[in-house]
Amino acid sequence: MTTIRAGIAGAGMVAAVHADAIRRAGGAVVGVAASTPERSKAATQRLNAGRAFATAEELATADDVDVVHVCTPNALHGPLVRAALAAGKHVVCEKPLSLGGADSDELTALAERSGLVAAVPLVYRYHPMTVEARARVRAGELGAVRLIHGHYLQDWLARPEDNNWRVDPAVGGASRAFADIGSHWCDLVEWVSGHRISELIAATQTVLPQRSAAGRETFTAGGPASGADGAADAADDVAVTTEDAVQVLFRTDRGATGALVVSQVSPGRKNRLWFEIDGADRSVSFDGEDPESLLFGGRDRTEILRRDALSPAAARINAVPAGHPWGYRDCFAAFTADVYAAVADPDLRAGTPAYPAFADAARTAHITDAVLTSAAHRSWIEVS
Ligand SMILES: NC(=O)c1ccc[n+]([C@@H]2O[C@H](COP(=O)([O-])OP(=O)(O)OC[C@H]3O[C@@H](n4cnc5c(N)ncnc54)[C@H](O)[C@@H]3O)[C@@H](O)[C@H]2O)c1
Repeated sequence: MTTIRAGIAGAGMVAAVHADAIRRAGGAVVGVAASTPERSKAATQRLNAGRAFATAEELATADDVDVVHVCTPNALHGPLVRAALAAGKHVVCEKPLSLGGADSDELTALAERSGLVAAVPLVYRYHPMTVEARARVRAGELGAVRLIHGHYLQDWLARPEDNNWRVDPAVGGASRAFADIGSHWCDLVEWVSGHRISELIAATQTVLPQRSAAGRETFTAGGPASGADGAADAADDVAVTTEDAVQVLFRTDRGATGALVVSQVSPGRKNRLWFEIDGADRSVSFDGEDPESLLFGGRDRTEILRRDALSPAAARINAVPAGHPWGYRDCFAAFTADVYAAVADPDLRAGTPAYPAFADAARTAHITDAVLTSAAHRSWIEVS
């Protein structure tokens, strides 16, 4: 089999995770593009990539790139996806696919017409234990699903001196906390439960109306040079319009109700994606900071399910035996393996592919739009 050649646009935290996953899927990282030619050069060493591209646009259309991985700040996703698809490249685009539902739908339609692989790393679908939860819900082990609830909490933007390109709506989009992490939660619980959020009411909160302009570097290892590039004046504070936290009540298309709290200002919560699905007979809950087990609840007996004796769907991706912790990078590797299998075999792109595709990311963009509209109008909104 010929080696699949990947180019990575963006060179920050998640780009390094993609580089690792590409190699584990048998691909080669032929090049990388950061925000300037100098940063691209520096990034080739950090990511052990073949060469530096002067711009992301050059990478997206290069002859020796089969798959373009879009790992830049959000506002660049749409233009780079369009350039890559027009050049006949398969695309792995980071979430959010674009800055709103309408543009995400357009990108989805473009991708579907192209017949190319168009995937989005909604990677929490690749924890063996979320797959296990899905298998058990889908097998009817919970009984009728009544309640879906949980949260996604982080603390890396908890202080006024914390800042990032995600805070700026021109770069990150009008929604910050929800588009950044709430979108992951909604994708995951819809995928696990088979329910779709049909209407919601949301309250958003910007708890820090001013942030230090100096703190725009990210949680990226390697500091500011590898993070966002807006060199703001350290003396200035910037006004914040994007939300730090969101609370959502929702109803699903199959008659369940739910609640979600999303926050990037919750001290001590590093990346706590937690959900619970309560059925008539059993409940199941998953904690992304402790992903080796599931709580499988029951009135008469509650069990802790470990990452062994898995259903076939979960066993399919479970590349390391229980007792050897499964991590975020393993999720990315399993996702990329599915994507690259479809790059190699067009039959694996048809119908509903194994990997999360553009349509799934567009769905989360519509939920995000509904959250912002509901918060602005203080009313229930149907999700389109
Ligand atoms: N799927 C996930 O679990 C997950 C996790 C983290 C981030 N993400 C997404 O990945 C994207 C990147 O996030 P990150 O945390 O890696 O950010 P980051 O700030 O660490 O990295 C962003 C990178 O983009 C580069 N960049 C900026 N402008 C550019 C340009 N014009 N051309 C090329 N490169 C440019 C920067 O130099 C930097 O290397 C975001 O869209 C984010 O939502 C997804």
